[in-house]
Amino acid sequence: MKLANIKREWWKEAVVYQIYPRSFQDSNGDGIGDLRGIINRLDYIKSLGIDVVWLNPIYSSPNDDMGYDISDYRNIMEEFGSMEDFDELLAGMHQRGIKVVLDLVVNHTSDEHEWFKQSRSSRDNPYRDYYHWWPAEKGTPPTRWSFFDEQANAWKFDEQTNSYYLHYFAVKQPDLNWENPKVRAEIFNMMHYWFKKGIDGFRMDVITFISKHPDYPEFPKECYGSKMIDMYAQGPKLHDYLHEMNREVLQHYDVMTVAEGPGTHIDTVLDLVDEERQELNMNYHFDHQGIGVGERYIVNHDFQNLVKFKRVMSEWDAVFEHKGWNTTYLGNHDFPRMVTRWGNDSPAYRVPASKLLSTYLLTMRGTPYYYMGDEIAMANIKFDDINDYKDLMTINWYHLTKQEGGDLDVFMESHKLCGRDNARTPIQWDASKNAGFTTATPWIKVNSDYTQFNVATQDKDPESPLNYFKKLTQLRKDHLTLVYGAYQLLWPDHKELYAYTRSMDDIVILVLLNFSVKTLALELPQDLQNGSVLINNYPQFECHGNKIKLQGYQSIVLQI
Ligand code: NOJ
Repeated sequence: MKLANIKREWWKEAVVYQIYPRSFQDSNGDGIGDLRGIINRLDYIKSLGIDVVWLNPIYSSPNDDMGYDISDYRNIMEEFGSMEDFDELLAGMHQRGIKVVLDLVVNHTSDEHEWFKQSRSSRDNPYRDYYHWWPAEKGTPPTRWSFFDEQANAWKFDEQTNSYYLHYFAVKQPDLNWENPKVRAEIFNMMHYWFKKGIDGFRMDVITFISKHPDYPEFPKECYGSKMIDMYAQGPKLHDYLHEMNREVLQHYDVMTVAEGPGTHIDTVLDLVDEERQELNMNYHFDHQGIGVGERYIVNHDFQNLVKFKRVMSEWDAVFEHKGWNTTYLGNHDFPRMVTRWGNDSPAYRVPASKLLSTYLLTMRGTPYYYMGDEIAMANIKFDDINDYKDLMTINWYHLTKQEGGDLDVFMESHKLCGRDNARTPIQWDASKNAGFTTATPWIKVNSDYTQFNVATQDKDPESPLNYFKKLTQLRKDHLTLVYGAYQLLWPDHKELYAYTRSMDDIVILVLLNFSVKTLALELPQDLQNGSVLINNYPQFECHGNKIKLQGYQSIVLQI
């Protein structure tokens, strides 16, 4: 790999920090995080050394799915503040050299969006074709599976016009009809509106699902249930629409785009992100998140299968060897806390495991997407009581399991590991009441471990996960090899060790990550000996010639 041959881009060199505004910082004492809360924390965000902030949806919404059900794309959610607050936030980020990426949720709207209110009012309303309707006189519509519906049915009968409407997600999230050129024009205009305000890109929610076959053919039997995801991601006009979006909107600005790509696979993803096709810049896949997790997030013995994890991540890296660009993430608002999911949240290993995972994210090829709170090693809250959950997904799946007479204990134990609310608990700022997140009752419980794990304490401790993360963002800036260098996996079948090199021009960087509590003894191959330590999550590094030892969850980066 030669730097001279690489097409450098700011979004390839960036570290993206994801903020879930509802849980970041409350400024007005209503228990809900808001834009002014983020404004008050701008200097903290800057201090992390990140380059881009992705904000989960901030638009008007009845919050059935926490903002992923938008009722007005051009207004700010009341609980989050006003458009003036947003403008101030954007200016504050830009003054600090941080770019801002918003969530683009255009597979569906809220049923409280004016378009849907019109659309459902009569069959001849001008907005009727903004959504997908199936007239009941044609019989029951072809089977479609819904992610969040209490009955798992994606068609909802609406009495007013004796028709069914389509909703891949919750019943309050009707799917937009992209076949209709007016819908596409509305969306493209809305995107221009935000780009003209100065935002720097979009993360595109389930963008792979936007194209639906107008006749809704029955899917093959083997694609029923959650396997429909793959069918949903292969809509006939997906790439026409994205190319049109690029031509009409994206190419007119210096912005970044990232697809949330359920149903994308290594053999098809380049259709989305090959530069020559002029669609999107990046995609994030779900293949690693699926390891050891079954239907309704029931966890099995493969949950932390490192060999599978390495295989998935390495196969994805290889796709982008010559074209397109990868992303790396371990957690976000839809997945558990990374230290619980991929590391070890027991008191003895939580700190090194968390630092190890940060090391992984910041030394892989592909833009890292880093989730807020991971920098202080936040862990899953693991609710015992279903009434503590706020996420409609866990709640609806619980009821579905109950109706079916399923095992609710297994369900609850699995959701302690995988439920989305684990990542949505408030940021732990300090050891004061409610972790300094709010003066009121927080909208979701604060993790009781906040007295030990919080920003204020870690800020003062040079060895904390927080200060380690800051070193890592600087390391990535100082070594372009970590951004662009070729990736090579070593010891692919090792069950505890994830090791790889990153190389560019005449530089080789070796990354050694012990994903276990065991002490690992290793012999380094000749060409990888005598490296100098760039970063180490332990105070020492045991190395005698080619023989090294890694302590439990030790991670070391060496320049050879
Ligand atoms: C993916 C989002 O990340 C998730 O939070 C949301 O529930 C669904 N898409 C539906 O918009």
